[in-house]
Amino acid sequence: MKILFLNGPNLNLLGQREPQVYGEATLADIEAMVRKHACDRGATIDFRQTNSEGELVGWIQGARGMFDAIVLNAAAYTHTSVALRDAIAATGVPTIEIHLSNIHAREEFRHTSRIAGVCRGQIAGFGAYSYILGTEAAINITEI
Ligand code: DQA
Repeated sequence: MKILFLNGPNLNLLGQREPQVYGEATLADIEAMVRKHACDRGATIDFRQTNSEGELVGWIQGARGMFDAIVLNAAAYTHTSVALRDAIAATGVPTIEIHLSNIHAREEFRHTSRIAGVCRGQIAGFGAYSYILGTEAAINITEI
């Protein structure tokens, strides 16, 4: 199976960015961990990051027929983007929303996810391990 990991704005700064909230691991560290785990589970992955909302929309649209599932950390666009929500709904590729931090335990504006209603489920609050849980969720929903 093929899983597309998409990472939104400012996640390229992981490791230096508010480590008390997001942890010490860089995005490259997380990618390496996810790659190893996915390989052990017989899955192949593509792992991407962008600061651009439009690029994320393009990648979600392009996933149709190419990937079995998307694991998406939309970062700040989670809370703002109708365009991402519409892209997920339009493409029909099962999508799992993930976050490093527990968005429900943080500022009120982070409690709302504009994409949650079109995702299969949400994983939040487990730090880098949210990506492993996202991988497992992707494997699980496509095996059923
Ligand atoms: C985040 C949570 C978002 O609220 C925030 O804007 C991020 C990262 C997380 O992984 O915890 O950039 O998606």
